[in-house]
This record gives sequence, C-alpha cells and structure tokens, in this order.
Amino acid sequence: MFNQTTHNILVALADGQFCSGEQLGEQNNISRAAISKHIQALQKLGLDIYSVTGKGYKLSQPIVLLNQHKIHEFLQRDNVNIEVKTVVESTNDVIKQALVSNTISATNSGTTIFSEAQTAGRGRRGKQWVSPLGASLYFSTHWRFEQGISATMGLSLVVGIAIVEALTQLGVDNLGLKWPNDIYYQGRKLGGILVELEGQGSDSCDIIIGAGINVLLPPSVTKNIDQPFADINDTGLLVDRNQLAGTILRHLITLLQEFEQTGFANFVDRWHKHDCFLGHPVQLHMGQRIIEGVASGVDAQGGIVLAQDNQTHSYFGGEISLRKLTS
Ligand code: BTN
Repeated sequence: MFNQTTHNILVALADGQFCSGEQLGEQNNISRAAISKHIQALQKLGLDIYSVTGKGYKLSQPIVLLNQHKIHEFLQRDNVNIEVKTVVESTNDVIKQALVSNTISATNSGTTIFSEAQTAGRGRRGKQWVSPLGASLYFSTHWRFEQGISATMGLSLVVGIAIVEALTQLGVDNLGLKWPNDIYYQGRKLGGILVELEGQGSDSCDIIIGAGINVLLPPSVTKNIDQPFADINDTGLLVDRNQLAGTILRHLITLLQEFEQTGFANFVDRWHKHDCFLGHPVQLHMGQRIIEGVASGVDAQGGIVLAQDNQTHSYFGGEISLRKLTS
C-alpha cells in the first residue's frame, strides 16, 4: 500500500520532528489506526521511523525529498525532461514502459526518472539493488543512439566517468572506478550502473542508463548488501540530494553528447585517471572461465586490457576481482 496519504505522511515527517498520530490523522482525515498502517508501509520501504508514546512518530534522520524544480536548478538545462516518483519497481522499467507506450519522446534523449525508493531495484548479473526510501539516488536516463548499437561500445564506462567527475566537482576525493562500471570510495562500492538496451530500429537503438548512488543507507537494510559498501555520508560530503541529482545528471548529459561525437577513444585517459585496479593482479571471471593477468587499463572500445606473459589482451565481458598473490 502506498498512496497519496502515505506520501503526505512522508512529507510531514521529512523534517525529522515528532508528528503525533492524532495530528497526522486530522491532516489526512483518517483514524490513528489507519495512520499506523501508512507508517508501516513507509517502514517496509526502508524508512527509519520510530515512535515514542505521547509524542508520536519521528524519522531517525531528517530527509530532503527529491524535487523536480530543485534538480532542474542544478541541472542548468531546460530541454531535459525530469520526473520524480516516490516508489517504483525499477526506474529502468519506468523508462522502458514509457518507450513502449510512446509516452516519452524517443528522439529527445535525456528523459530521466528519479525515484525515492524501488521495490524491485536490480543490479548487474541479476542481483538485487537494495533501494530504501530516501536513502540514496536511483535514476534512469533514456538515450537514443542514431548510429545504432555499435556506437555504444564503452558507454557504461563513460557513465561511471561522468558520476566520478560530478562527485569530484562536489568535493569528494578518493573515488575510483572498477571496470566496467562500479563507483568506489576507498575500496568500497559507492554506486553501480545498469545499462540496458530497449529497442533497436533499423539504424538507431534506445538505451536505458540506470544508476544507483548510496547516500545514507539505514542500518536496517545494509545487512542485505553482500559486499563492502560506502555511502556519500562516509565521504564527509554534506549535500542536498537534489544538488547531487542535478550535478550528476548535468555531467552525464554533457559526457553522453561528447561520447556520441567521439566514441570511447576520447575517454580512455579519463578512465585511467580513476581506474582503481590499474597495475593490480586480477582475475576476470567469465562464466566458468577464470582469466588471470595484471589490469592494464582499457582499450579504445572500453574492453579491459590484461597483461599476461608479456602480452596484452582485451576482454569485453565478465567481472574482475583482485587476485591475492601467494608468496
Ligand atoms: C550494479 O552495480 O549491479 C548496478 C546497479 C544499478 C542500480 C540502478 S538504481 C536505478 C536503476 N534501476 C534499477 O533497477 N537499477 C538501476
């Protein structure tokens, strides 16, 4: 259950002050028992709400809700369609459905959906992307490539570069990129990117670029994350999520426009600047196959280059991990 009343209660609690059940009931014309059902719905979405007898409900941390107009202020581009949702299954699917039903203009690239929470957020390789309400940034951007799928080689790496450059501009240090598109902070995962192909015409193709950046993950959800992770709060950056959203999207759109003109070759040096596996012995897992080598950056198509027995080879699929050296 999530409806307009649930949203009203979320807005009322956002500033982190106590709100009594009675007060919330009066504002929404419903009983205190009904309020408690909406509170449960918000808690189920990962919002950390507690209650104190005689005082009411309170968020453990105040949150600044996403706002389309505020994001636009930081985006500084008028011709980009943005929509902010409160709960969706997956922002990638919202774009996908809008393309299928022709409710977004496929020729005007850049349409972006942000959501406060996802109930079926997904990561690469079929993994779940934990998406608690108000705790992170979840968004998907549509981009049409008129030259077709071959023009998208290296795209997901460019998205990673855009996010790292945006965060660096906001003042975050110690960021890194893990091939093909994970964002790291001090060796822990801060964000991830899921690029999906929606439709292919005779020439063009439609791509959905989904990204999730951890902002302030509540302890109640972190037990479901199966790898070392970090959030923006760990970096010491105090930022309104609207500024974060607008700044990241501004960098993303600028780099996508550049990428359309030049392809990935122009981004190789920018990738190497942030590549946190460069020069390290790694294993590349490709299905049942494990390939070992020294990570030597990326090639002009965005493939990972591994040095093996004085030779280098590029690979385009799989997952890398640091290889522990035995002495
Ligand atoms: C990964 O590292 O595995 C990729 C994670 C991508 C998560 C984002 S959140 C917004 C968009 N919607 C989804 O369902 N997934 C992506």
